[in-house]
Amino acid sequence: MAEWVRVAAVAGCPVGQLTSVAAGGEQIVLANVDGDVYALLDQCSHEEYPLSDGDLEGTDLVCMYHGARFDACTGKNKGLPAIRPVRSFPVDIRDGDVYVEV
Ligand code: FES
Repeated sequence: MAEWVRVAAVAGCPVGQLTSVAAGGEQIVLANVDGDVYALLDQCSHEEYPLSDGDLEGTDLVCMYHGARFDACTGKNKGLPAIRPVRSFPVDIRDGDVYVEV
């Protein structure tokens, strides 16, 4: 059953950067896109390397290993070699903290 888990302070997720956190037995990457925080599974759908090792370019999360691109807001795959999306998680901000539903 899904539950909301506090994973970080908003201040710990700088704009334009990726932050890796653990919640509910999952490794999750937080992406701060222009002040809005999004959460994706921290595992590339290509060869399962951590997406948090990559870069955030606007709304694109770029995997550093082979260059796959994903929409950081939805997890949708946008560029090869990834041909599948990455799971995304609902995010809520409460009193300066980031909560993810896992
Ligand atoms: S593991 Fe991400 S592009 Fe290959």
